[in-house]
Amino acid sequence: FGVSAYAELPKLKQKDTYKVGFAQTESNNPWRIAESKSMQDVAKTCGWNLVYTDAAGSAAKQVADVESMIAQKVDLIVLAPREEKPLIPAVRKAKKAGIPVILIDRDVDPKLAKVGVDYVTFIGSDFVDQGRRAAEWLVKASKGQGKIVELEGSTGSSPANNRKKGFDDVIAKNTGLKIVASQSGDFSRDKGRQVMQTLLQAHPDVTAVYAHNDEMAIGAISALEAAGKKPGQDVVVVSIDGTRDALTAIASGKMGATVQSSPFFGPIACETARKYARGEKIPGWVKVEDKFYDKSNAQANMADGY
Ligand code: AHR
Repeated sequence: FGVSAYAELPKLKQKDTYKVGFAQTESNNPWRIAESKSMQDVAKTCGWNLVYTDAAGSAAKQVADVESMIAQKVDLIVLAPREEKPLIPAVRKAKKAGIPVILIDRDVDPKLAKVGVDYVTFIGSDFVDQGRRAAEWLVKASKGQGKIVELEGSTGSSPANNRKKGFDDVIAKNTGLKIVASQSGDFSRDKGRQVMQTLLQAHPDVTAVYAHNDEMAIGAISALEAAGKKPGQDVVVVSIDGTRDALTAIASGKMGATVQSSPFFGPIACETARKYARGEKIPGWVKVEDKFYDKSNAQANMADGY
């Protein structure tokens, strides 16, 4: 990630108010709702007239949403691309129409699109590191022994790809730990529950669950309980996000740990857009730092949850 090569990107004029498109991927979980609220809240203080769209879990709809924003001649598009590849043509269309694009939360495939050329910057977490931190916690908690079920996020999305990479790389170095199944639960609580229920039939001796987000972890906990297992005792559960439900599950002992993935992009997006309009250099990746919660601090940090 370098610094945006301004010469190739559309400019953003310095003005008091902007028409800003925010293309959300879906609204099916607390993380998404917190992210949308953060954007809607900041719009009021940043002089943004927000054009908000919800792709309802469809990359094709999100492409159409971005195209509609281009037709409405917004000044800036803030995009949370549902998947890494399908949104790239829409990002390029916006550039061609003279509209700068800032990616938040999820990235596009860096091998196919170029930051500083196709879009201004990516504001978001280090998903590989999140997976790594979850794995390192599990290695310690399990004393390096066990059978793991991995519940992956939405197929083709940057958090699913990178959280898997970070986690699997650490586990591969620990011979006593084995990932016995890895399947998508689409970042959804109910799909996570259903997938876990099915996987438990083939792997009743599982000792750990790694879910790419808290919603799937909570779903997996329900499936474990329905199968007569005690989450937190028979099966250790670790995931990512830091939702209120996950912090509560950690405090009650049903879940082991969660790596925070902050959904509060509004103030950073506003600040980044202002800097861009002033012609300041923007790094190609505006990295969001994430905390970590386990039984030592979940209860005390309950207010961080959303
Ligand atoms: O892109 C971030 C991920 O997407 C969050 O972990 C998840 O909860 C959301 O749906």
